[in-house]
Amino acid sequence: MTRPADEFASITESAPLVAELRERIRSGGPVTFRAFMEAALYHPRHGYYRTQDAPTSRGGDYVTSPEVHPIFGALVARQLIEMYDAMSRPVRFDVVEQGAGRGVLARDILRSPAAHDDAFGRALVYTIIEPVARLREIQRATLADAGIDAARVRWAGALPSRIEGCLLTNELLDAFPVHRVVRRDGDLREVCVGLDGDSFVDVECAPSTPALAAYFDEIGIVPGDGCVAEVNLDTPLWIEGVAAAVERGYVLTFDYGYEATALYAPWRRDGTLLCFYRQSASSAPYQRIGKQDMTASVDFTTLRRAGERAGLRTLATTDQSSFLVRLGIGEGVASVARDRPGELAEYFARRNVVLDLIDPGKLGRITVLLQGKGVPDTALRGFRDD
Ligand SMILES: C[S@@+](CC[C@H](N)C(=O)[O-])C[C@H]1O[C@@H](n2cnc3c(N)ncnc32)[C@H](O)[C@@H]1O
Repeated sequence: MTRPADEFASITESAPLVAELRERIRSGGPVTFRAFMEAALYHPRHGYYRTQDAPTSRGGDYVTSPEVHPIFGALVARQLIEMYDAMSRPVRFDVVEQGAGRGVLARDILRSPAAHDDAFGRALVYTIIEPVARLREIQRATLADAGIDAARVRWAGALPSRIEGCLLTNELLDAFPVHRVVRRDGDLREVCVGLDGDSFVDVECAPSTPALAAYFDEIGIVPGDGCVAEVNLDTPLWIEGVAAAVERGYVLTFDYGYEATALYAPWRRDGTLLCFYRQSASSAPYQRIGKQDMTASVDFTTLRRAGERAGLRTLATTDQSSFLVRLGIGEGVASVARDRPGELAEYFARRNVVLDLIDPGKLGRITVLLQGKGVPDTALRGFRDD
């Protein structure tokens, strides 16, 4: 017997989380989408990122760049060592990674050839910002499985102060919970989450905070009439905190996103919210609650400007495809073709990994933003056309 789609959805959602959200809406009225998304992803007991062990891996719901192949971490390490040189090789070079998932990027940076440079290796202090104890355990296990001494990594619950080095994130900001808004006859409305019987539904409300209108005033853009758009109010606050925490160094951000003019273009009628479950994407946030990922594209205009207001210089922006090609992602493929021409299987395996990471329709379209404080203007290799 085939099951109706709704029945299947109810099997794959988190029943206690759904019950809690229904109760909250029944007693207090519609909640903002931000509150709904925060609960779905980060509820302390039932949230997606609190209950899934490996959502970002090939066997999970979606794949991130570090999970594709260790070459990603090795090339990021190459970029980090160039930052270390540009900062005149300080005695301590912090790499602080926030939102480290399973700890795969940390593992690959720490075991890359670059990290074995004597001076860089001695200066490198790697800190993972991870508030969730269970994820810290998973990260420790990833490092241990690779034979990396756990003493090489420190864990912190929040941003440490006086960072000297690089603050690094991969797909952190697109996982922050967002508000959803819609413009109706010139007025900004907020898309909240209400109930129709037992079903979660969109409900248009007055904006829950004046910060939403202020956000659009700041970028000088309004969504087109009838267009739904996401607003990530956490990102500008986050970069302010980062700017205060970095004493000297770089902020390297990898994330899906656009400049505000493209993100809020009038043709983009339904925003960019996407849900991922078992490697397929949907626009259905009220299904599989607590069991699927949710993400919304980052507004890089706001991220840059908020960083600049807080004292970070915008040094460069590029796409992941160009970044990895400039750092030499093709070398490994070319060397097999040149030195081991008979090893076709190895050649195609490496070529497929490279294509996964640089395909402009997939991971290659990720934006790479470099911000800095107290560092020289020297263009770094990942952002430089030689
Ligand atoms: C899309 S996953 C990316 C994981 C990893 N960077 C990767 O590339 O595989 C986003 C991660 O950010 C974490 N995260 C979200 N907000 C965070 C915060 N404020 N501090 C630390 N981690 C956070 C989530 O728990 C999740 O593990």
